[in-house]
Amino acid sequence: MERIVTLDEFIIKTQQDFPGSSGSLTRILRDIGIAAKIVNREVNMAGLVNILGRADSSNASGEDVQKLDIFANEVMIDCLKNGGECAGVASEELENVIAFDPVEGQTAEYLVLMDPLDGSSNIDVNVSVGTIFGIYKRESDTNKKVAEKEFLQRGSALVAAGYVLYGTSTILVYTTGNGVNGFTLDPSIGEFCLSHRNMKMPASGNYYSVNQGYYLKFDLEMRRYIDHCSDLNLRLRYIGSMVSDIHRIMFQGGIFLYPNTRKYPAGKLRLVYEGNPMSFIVEQAGGKALNTKLERILDVEVKELHQRTTIIMGSSDMVNDLQEFVERYSAINS
Ligand code: AHG
Ligand code: MN
Ligand code: MN
Repeated sequence: MERIVTLDEFIIKTQQDFPGSSGSLTRILRDIGIAAKIVNREVNMAGLVNILGRADSSNASGEDVQKLDIFANEVMIDCLKNGGECAGVASEELENVIAFDPVEGQTAEYLVLMDPLDGSSNIDVNVSVGTIFGIYKRESDTNKKVAEKEFLQRGSALVAAGYVLYGTSTILVYTTGNGVNGFTLDPSIGEFCLSHRNMKMPASGNYYSVNQGYYLKFDLEMRRYIDHCSDLNLRLRYIGSMVSDIHRIMFQGGIFLYPNTRKYPAGKLRLVYEGNPMSFIVEQAGGKALNTKLERILDVEVKELHQRTTIIMGSSDMVNDLQEFVERYSAINS
């Protein structure tokens, strides 16, 4: 029988592949692993404890009930704050960044940007949700408190990114730019165990994933591409949690779309919390990630923290195909 490799063992082992590395990134990944286990516990208990529902609701004893995405946000921040390697965090749940106070004897070299709970509307109905994170190295003086502008780095500068899917089982998938690996949580020992080494996305697949309810709100080229998917008898799957939808595509191949709509002319999903980390993972698995202007998402300039992006992401051949539709039909449209 092959010996189990835990997430902690794996990240320490792969750190040895980078001689001279300080180990800070390793510790941040380990802290995120701990946070993921705590969030997982609460997600699994969601039907039992009074954590469901809106943040402003109260439980029977009149105490404030936290919404699960606020809980996940706080757990992630707490786990990152105490280590001393992370200088600050930016979160989909927070308007402004949080700059951590320096921990004595530690150099906080890294920044974490995250969507603590992705697909949170699924939680009340027992459907999969996720966590997304991206890690950057600080560009400026690590002795100073971090400023918001330091978080506005292009996706191509990511040093690591990952997601956790709280699904039928819980899996943490991450990359440090050297391939993608997946770790499934074994609840009996409370450890993430290496289950998917060097994940590769198929170059094509039978799935497309888009909120087809917005079909009439999409541009002509997107509508034509969706018609094409339907002509090919591709299977439509849309969970409403990007992590879950992309995770299927990581294994089975396919394409995920969140184009501009009338309501969201720049797209709905957030560039730094969702678009960039997921693009880094998808590319590392051999896939492609563009916006509807056909720009590589990872190359897009980040002007503000909560900037939105359109998304075309998935199997390389399918993204290339879609690119042809955009080039052909947007010319007709203009
Ligand atoms: P979040 O729960 O973090 O706000 O993210 C939900 C996102 C994304 O995961 C999903 O793909 C998309 O919103 C669903 O949006 P629609 O309901 O508009 O399809
Ligand atoms: Mn999200
Ligand atoms: Mn969220």
